[in-house]
Amino acid sequence: QGALGNVWDDEMSSNMLGKRLRKVVQNYQAMNKYGVELSGPGGVATRPKVSGPDLLCQLKEKVEVATLTPNLKPFHSLPWASQLPPQPMISDLGPYKSCAVVSSAGSLRYSGLGKEIDSHDAVLRFNAAPTVGYEKDVGSKTTLRLLNSQVMASDDHRFLSSSLYSTGVLVAWDPAPFSADLSQWYNKTDYPIFAQYQRYRRLHPLQPFYILHPRFEWQLWQRIQDNMAEPIQKNPPSSGLLGTVMMMSLCEVVHVYEFLPSRRKTELCHYYQRFYDAACTLGAYHPLLYEKNLVKRMNQGVDQDIYTHGRVTLPGFITINC
Ligand code: C5P
Repeated sequence: QGALGNVWDDEMSSNMLGKRLRKVVQNYQAMNKYGVELSGPGGVATRPKVSGPDLLCQLKEKVEVATLTPNLKPFHSLPWASQLPPQPMISDLGPYKSCAVVSSAGSLRYSGLGKEIDSHDAVLRFNAAPTVGYEKDVGSKTTLRLLNSQVMASDDHRFLSSSLYSTGVLVAWDPAPFSADLSQWYNKTDYPIFAQYQRYRRLHPLQPFYILHPRFEWQLWQRIQDNMAEPIQKNPPSSGLLGTVMMMSLCEVVHVYEFLPSRRKTELCHYYQRFYDAACTLGAYHPLLYEKNLVKRMNQGVDQDIYTHGRVTLPGFITINC
């Protein structure tokens, strides 16, 4: 407020949304496609608010960024299991000193953040986000790319043939049942993540490619819900938060760009597409509003960095003492 202008308020709630979005969020709060079982103390509204440092410790201690390996059931008995990386991602990559997480938000447009983003040791991008033609605003380095199964499966994204995906380490995820039981998930993925994974690996056998263990998405979901005063959507967190926490376990310091919107805040959904929808920034299916509250509470940078650069600063887990 005042000279600084608005930055994200960490108590954003669905009743602050416009009528249309509020309705969509409420519908998702009521729907339970993945069989989420609520646990822990009820009456969340009465619990004291956990501090930023304590939230960071909760994430460090209760959320594990695990990936699939060939020894896990049911994969161990499948012929293609040998296509999975033999070791978990965490033991193959990093630690990186500094990392950038580049949300795909429309507010990256005209940001001029490209050089700053590229100055990091590792850069994470999401889904179909391009760099070519947008270097000035988003940089050109791609160390990792986090993909959802929808992008891997949809015809428009040409996942198997486009050169967009051929740089860096790929990491894929798919919304799984809340139980995170691998056999249940294998028979009931949202999109054909495993068929596409096998095809891609045959075409690009040398490019590192991990699949996130679904336990990760639901452990993170639980951290969000346990720290919010109202029920959140019973759907997994967005790629943006999954990627941010993934990088917190690979890096000493993580800068996240335009996840909390800067002064450039816009309804433009992605910096690379002419499509407008406030739901991209505020969430509909994903509990994105609450993810942003959590990130705002954990931010170690100043509000001015959010306002001018859309930049949040988070510590890597190896650097914090709990
Ligand atoms: O849309 P997509 O999932 O590919 O974007 C990557 C991530 O960037 C999202 O999961 C979300 O966390 C974040 N994002 C955002 N605001 C937008 C667009 C994307 O916070 N307008």
